[in-house]
Amino acid sequence: MAKIIKVGKKNSQYDVVIARNAITKTRLSKHLKSKNKILVITDSGIPSKYIRELKNLLSFKKQLYFHEIPCGEKSKSFSTFIKIQEKLADLKFDRSDSMIAFGGGVVGDITGFCAATYLRGIDFVQIPTTLLAQVDSSVGGKTAINIKQGKNLVGSFNNPSLVLISSKFLETLPDIEYKSGLGEVIKYAFIGNKKLYKLIHENSRKIKSRNLNILEDIIEESIITKSKIVTQDEKENGIRAILNFGHTFGHAIEASKNYKGITHGAAVTLGMVIAAKISYFEGHIKIHQLDNIINLIDSLGLESNYEKYKFKDLKKYLSNDKKVSSGKLSLVLINSKGLAFKTNQFNNKSLEKSFA
Ligand SMILES: NC(=O)c1ccc[n+]([C@@H]2O[C@H](COP(=O)([O-])OP(=O)(O)OC[C@H]3O[C@@H](n4cnc5c(N)ncnc54)[C@H](O)[C@@H]3O)[C@@H](O)[C@H]2O)c1
Repeated sequence: MAKIIKVGKKNSQYDVVIARNAITKTRLSKHLKSKNKILVITDSGIPSKYIRELKNLLSFKKQLYFHEIPCGEKSKSFSTFIKIQEKLADLKFDRSDSMIAFGGGVVGDITGFCAATYLRGIDFVQIPTTLLAQVDSSVGGKTAINIKQGKNLVGSFNNPSLVLISSKFLETLPDIEYKSGLGEVIKYAFIGNKKLYKLIHENSRKIKSRNLNILEDIIEESIITKSKIVTQDEKENGIRAILNFGHTFGHAIEASKNYKGITHGAAVTLGMVIAAKISYFEGHIKIHQLDNIINLIDSLGLESNYEKYKFKDLKKYLSNDKKVSSGKLSLVLINSKGLAFKTNQFNNKSLEKSFA
């Protein structure tokens, strides 16, 4: 049985469907029946059998087009954006047409941004194929591309009209990408989802062996947490900031490595350990809570040791972070109840001590 979660406020609400195979002809034809043309964006790393399957399922659409971008972060660029916009215009897409993002977070972010801006906004559907995209980037409506000054600096909030999550795609995901997604999963457990925390704690072996039943439960719990937060705060004016737990130092680590040699989720995982340590030095959590966090990360085979990163090297990237407002750095920390909160009230020494 598919799990269905409703996300967003009434006028922009959409379904997130989670199943072993959520992409069925019935679901697609029902959702896309009023659409004339469909442009599917995908990347060169998506296994070709998945693309063939999707083509087959969408064969009821006479005007079906595919556009493949090179896989990797470099595709979240203006040049890719322009190519897609020109393709939409050449194919004479109008507001009765739709786009589909079929891939990971890179494909989802650029497709969502193209859909937000072409003709001032056309419909788009997310079909995420990586764990990170399934538990995080496909839901919540953040879309973006990168410019040389920084990652995700140009973008918009644009909700998809439907998200179809098939857990079976996770079977072919490279280990490094799977672990990257687990980093975001574990974040939801640390920022307040106790059921998810328990699920991970009791099933680490099954998670490591990619048991799809457990993964579907975990994806569901992740989306429930994200959904509650983004529905309350669609444009990140308040509570949504807690989703950035681990991201301030995570982004600094990614930037210090020029976004090479470390995945987003792996950097965020290290960032969460750092934020948890700062929470401990600030007196918000006890030492056993810090240990529990590190143990949970370790139990999934993720890296929790960040000793090769030095505070003095990361410092300059902290001030470039979007979490800096009026020159004051904000951090997302956690408290003894296991809840996350955003604050700019902390002792700078706690930051340095976390790296000592
Ligand atoms: N919009 C948001 O809210 C949000 C949140 C988090 C991250 N992001 C963005 O997401 C991006 C990272 O996304 P990602 O981690 O999914 O990486 P990705 O999109 O680069 O995908 C990783 C790799 O996996 C391959 N792949 C995808 N599905 C596969 C499958 N089923 N089997 C085998 N290979 C597969 C891809 O071809 C790619 O090479 C970053 O750009 C980040 O900024 C956005």
